[in-house]
Amino acid sequence: MRTVTLEGRGAFDEWRDAARGLLAAGVRPEQVCWQLSGEGGDLFGTQTEAPMPRAQTLDISVPKGFIEAAEAAICHSDPDRFALLYRILWRLQAERSLLQVRSDTDVADLVRLIKNVRRDSHKMKAFVRFREVDAVQPKRRRFVAWFEPEHFIVARTAGFFQRRFTDMDWLIATPKGSAAWNGQELKTSREPAGRPEAEDETDELWRTYFSNIFNPARVKIRAMQSEMPKKYWKNMPEASLIPDLIAGAERRVQEMAAREASQPPAFHERLQAQWRGREEQSDPDLPPLERLRHEAAGCTRCPLHCHATQTVFGEGPDDAEIMFVGEQPGDTEDLAGRPFIGPAGQVFDEAVAAAGIDRSQVYVTNAVKHFKYERRGKRRIHMRPDAGEVAHCRWWVSKEIEIIRPRIVVALGATAYLSLTGESRPIAEVRGMPIPMQDNRMLLVTTHPSAILRMPDPDLKARSLAAFRSDLGGVKRLFDTLQKVRGPEQGEGPSRGR
Ligand code: URA
Repeated sequence: MRTVTLEGRGAFDEWRDAARGLLAAGVRPEQVCWQLSGEGGDLFGTQTEAPMPRAQTLDISVPKGFIEAAEAAICHSDPDRFALLYRILWRLQAERSLLQVRSDTDVADLVRLIKNVRRDSHKMKAFVRFREVDAVQPKRRRFVAWFEPEHFIVARTAGFFQRRFTDMDWLIATPKGSAAWNGQELKTSREPAGRPEAEDETDELWRTYFSNIFNPARVKIRAMQSEMPKKYWKNMPEASLIPDLIAGAERRVQEMAAREASQPPAFHERLQAQWRGREEQSDPDLPPLERLRHEAAGCTRCPLHCHATQTVFGEGPDDAEIMFVGEQPGDTEDLAGRPFIGPAGQVFDEAVAAAGIDRSQVYVTNAVKHFKYERRGKRRIHMRPDAGEVAHCRWWVSKEIEIIRPRIVVALGATAYLSLTGESRPIAEVRGMPIPMQDNRMLLVTTHPSAILRMPDPDLKARSLAAFRSDLGGVKRLFDTLQKVRGPEQGEGPSRGR
C-alpha cells in the first residue's frame, strides 16, 4: 500500500504530480491510500510511505476534457476525490471513451463533484457581499468580504471578481482560502483566512435592494431556499428580511392584482437617423453619448456590419437611471435604426408601461448593434449572435454604461447577460437576483421579450409574459426605493446635473 499525503486545498498540480508518479510506476488505484496532511497516519502501521516515483519516464496522455474535469473536481471537499480521480485516470489508459459513459459510477461521481463545485462557485459570485473599509491610497476604495464556501473554489472563482470589480481594491476572505485584487495583481491563497470585521452602509443598501426586488407574485419558497440556501444567510445583510417578506407575500400579491395595468404607449415615432458620413461625426463638442453614437455608426469591429442596414445604437437620456440591454436589433429595428420598436419592442413597451416606467426616461440598447440574420426567400430570419460577436460589441455597451452611469442595468435575456458579465448562463439561474456591478450598480436579469413571442404554448406564453411584467415591476420598485433612499441628486442617477 502506498500512502500519498496532500494539502488538498483545491490545487490541481499537487494531485497531478502525485498521480503521474503513481501511474508511471504502475501503482494500481486500490494500492493507494490518499490522505490529507494533518489527518494522521495509519494506526495499525500497515501502510508504507514509499518514495514517489518520477513520472518523466512515462508519457501520459489523457482524453480531452479530463484535465478540465479534474481541475474542477479537485476543488471539491470530498476526501475521496483524489482516489476517484486517480481511478479514472488509471482506467482512461485502457478505456479512452470512459468519460462519455455517464452511467459509469466513477464518471457519475465525477460529474456530481464538478456540479457541486460549479454550484458553489456560482453561489460565491451571487452571495459575496463587500463592505467598505478605509482606503490606503487616496483614489482607490477598499472593500472586504467574508464568505463560507463548501468547496475550495476561491482561486477558480477569483477571476470573476477581478473582471467585475476592477476599479476597487478588494479582499475576499474565506475559511478555504482568500483572494485579493489591488488594481494590478490578483493574489490568491489557499490558506484558511480569518473573518474580517466590517459593516458599513452598503448593508442597508443590500436590504433595500432585496426588499424591492423581492417579488411576492413569484415567490416559491422552496426554490428560493434552494437558490439561496440558509447556510449563506448569516453573511448576507439582506437575509434578515426574508422571513417577514415571505410572511407578507400573499397580501402584496393581492394588492398587485387589484391594480390595473396601464395601457401601452403608442410606438415611438419612427425616425431613421443617418449618422454615417455626417459632419458632426468628428465634432469634438458633441456630448459624449452623441459622439459615441456617431463612432458606432461606422463600426466594423465584426463582420455583422456587412449585411446589416445600419448600426442600431442605444436610445434614451444620457443620464438615465435605468438601462435595458437587449440582444440585437431585429428586422424592423435594422430598417428604422432604433432599438426595440418591432414586435419584441411592443412586448417590451407594454411591460414597461404596465410597470409604471416611462420608456422615454430609460436608456434602451442592445448587446450587439447590428442585425444578424439569414435570408429565407424574401424574409430575413433572426440569428443569435455568437460569443465572438457579443465580445466585439461589448466595447460599445461598456462605453454606454460608462457615460450614462445607470443605477440599474436590466439584462433582457442570455445574450445581454453574457455581454454584461462575460458569463453564459441559463436565465432561470440568475433571474430575480440583484447582481452587484461596479459603482454600486445593480444588474437585474429577466427574459427577452422575443423569447416570449416565440413560445408556441399559449398558457406558457401567458405565464412568461406575466413573469416578465412582474420582473419589470420589481425594477420599478427598486428604482423608486433608490430614489427615496439616496435621493435623485446624490451620487449617480438622472438629473444629476452633469
Ligand atoms: N430584440 C432585441 O434584442 N433588440 C431589439 O432592438 C429588438 C428585438
